[in-house]
Amino acid sequence: MSEKHFQRTLVTAALPYANGGVHIGHLAGVYVPADIYVRYLRLKKREVLFICGSDEHGVPVTIRARKEGCTPQQVVDRYNAVISKSFADFGITFDNYGRTTSPIHRETASQFFRTLYDKGEFVEKESEQYYDEEAHTFLADRYITGECPHCHAEGAYGDQCEKCGTALAPTELINPKSTISGAKPVLRKTKHWYLPLDRHQEWLEKWIVSDHPEWRSNVMGQCKSWFDMGLQPRAVSRDLEWGIPVPVDGAEGKVLYVWFDAPIGYISNTKEILPNDWEKWWKSDDTRLIHFIGKDNIVFHCIVFPAMLKAEGSYILPDNVPANEFLNLEDDKISTSRDWAVWLDEYLRDFPGKQDVLRYVLTANAPETKDNNFTWRDFQARNNNELVAVYGNFVNRALQLTQKYYDGEVPASGPLTDYDRDTIAEFTGVKAEVERLLEAFRFRDAQKEAMALARIGNKYLADSEPWKVIKTDPERVKTILYLSLQLVANLAIAFEPFLPFSSKRLREMLHLGEADWDRLGATDLLPAGHRLAQPELLFAKIEDDVVEAQVQKLLDKKKALEAATHKADPIAQTVSFDDFEKLDIRVGTVLACEKVKKSKKLLKFEIADGLENRTIVSGIALHYDPATLVGKQVCFIANLAPRTVCGVESQGMILSALNYDESLSLLTLDRPVAPGSHVG
Ligand code: MF3
Ligand code: ZN
Repeated sequence: MSEKHFQRTLVTAALPYANGGVHIGHLAGVYVPADIYVRYLRLKKREVLFICGSDEHGVPVTIRARKEGCTPQQVVDRYNAVISKSFADFGITFDNYGRTTSPIHRETASQFFRTLYDKGEFVEKESEQYYDEEAHTFLADRYITGECPHCHAEGAYGDQCEKCGTALAPTELINPKSTISGAKPVLRKTKHWYLPLDRHQEWLEKWIVSDHPEWRSNVMGQCKSWFDMGLQPRAVSRDLEWGIPVPVDGAEGKVLYVWFDAPIGYISNTKEILPNDWEKWWKSDDTRLIHFIGKDNIVFHCIVFPAMLKAEGSYILPDNVPANEFLNLEDDKISTSRDWAVWLDEYLRDFPGKQDVLRYVLTANAPETKDNNFTWRDFQARNNNELVAVYGNFVNRALQLTQKYYDGEVPASGPLTDYDRDTIAEFTGVKAEVERLLEAFRFRDAQKEAMALARIGNKYLADSEPWKVIKTDPERVKTILYLSLQLVANLAIAFEPFLPFSSKRLREMLHLGEADWDRLGATDLLPAGHRLAQPELLFAKIEDDVVEAQVQKLLDKKKALEAATHKADPIAQTVSFDDFEKLDIRVGTVLACEKVKKSKKLLKFEIADGLENRTIVSGIALHYDPATLVGKQVCFIANLAPRTVCGVESQGMILSALNYDESLSLLTLDRPVAPGSHVG
């Protein structure tokens, strides 16, 4: 479709679930690209609206509430606040950030359902679903666990086994159990409403495959594979308490499926800020609707929601759905439940004021065409080698030289050389290229193109060497710096959509006022005689120990979680109490401890045992530095027959715990006791 025909652009970003914070994967996949796009459209003075909000229904919210002993409403209140603060902190400029628990959303979603119901757009079907007779409730798939029929792991969920990744139906689980009461669930009949996607397949396929060949190949690929499998009716209601009641007689205890109500949130959140004007954004052919989402949302935004909109009859359909693939973290899938993530609020605590660094790195690594990887090393390298060494360095050199030679005043340009003209020709082309790439949703390439301005600037300064020329031809230096400063001003404008915080600071240093995108590429942004402010560094180097600490923090989290979820060895054969009493376990104080010569693993202990002291050899040298053990109280088996190891007689055995990962922890005491005290 031709550009011309659209008057305005409605941009939506996937509504994040309000049952956790926002992490770098969310930011890279959806919110930074959406924000870049919207900022760009605003700079182009196009009419644009940017809509998002919290997705507050769904089973995960109720599970978290149950776990934390609070109400679902309390959970979503808390996370809605956390999420909206993170977005504001990172400069994501929504025109409205709403909530799916707002009254206007309830009403809008309810009415939407009712319209489809009245038009006969649903089919009603009875099916058998698991019911918990103790808790008197139907069970959502996530509330049922059992043995996986494929890999036989315990604790698989009714929708998926997390061990082998297989998608499941709850009835496939072996020995299913309700996680609410622990009871064995029974099958019961229940009625639900289905959106018959099979009836929509024909037009959907034509609309996507024939009318929108320009959609990203990852999006097109997923859609085609759904079409190839043949679309099936999808239930749009659930037996749950948390959600928007199904507005139909006889539907007590039933709510709208979260994936039915959530996308309608885009509409409600538009209504919320434009109660009289929202229809032109949703029902007018000259509005262009763009959904920014992650790849796990493709089917809902390309197939289910468009089918809902079409069934309703008065809405426009999306013009594009630029879905991103996933961002991994240090070569591992980002996971909220495993806490393998960099949370935005944590990032800002550790890197205050460095929003733009993260925005930059996530865009440079955006998972636009395939899954991508975030590593702290790469974060450091991009900051130090690109933001600091290229962008910051050029700006700083140009501004410092201007301070030094002209007291912070833009000099007047003299006649241009051929080299000046070549440089100008290079950077005036950047605008068209950045625009072309942004319009095609190619954000990483667009940002690279903006960065080209700084590379051109650095090269220009390095080649022209004003610090040398000042001695031989001071008039020429005026031209060099005049042009360099124009490039600096161009950088502030070009990076406005990508690095809004830094662009603002740079504009302040230049006394430049609002960014005027139309002037990008101009060579007279800062007139001769214009006064600049005192320059400050735009970006700062990030040191090794800082990124190492971040990696360590992640590894520590992973360790703690592994340990917490590790399954212990089965318990050994039962022994009689009499047998147990034969062991004499005592407390001893470590008097001396040293490595056994010619052995890697052994430590020799001198232990005060309240009698005559004794020597014990223990194989823990790889886990403890002997010097740190002196003075500690340990537990040991005192009546074990002596043995000679590596030429040393060991009179007993010191007790320690063997961790699942082979690491060791000595059994020490909580309070000091007399050496020789009994343990039992
Ligand atoms: N909450 C969903 C997710 O995080 C996205 C919902 S998008 C909407 O995957 F369209 F339903 F709003
Ligand atoms: Zn499995």
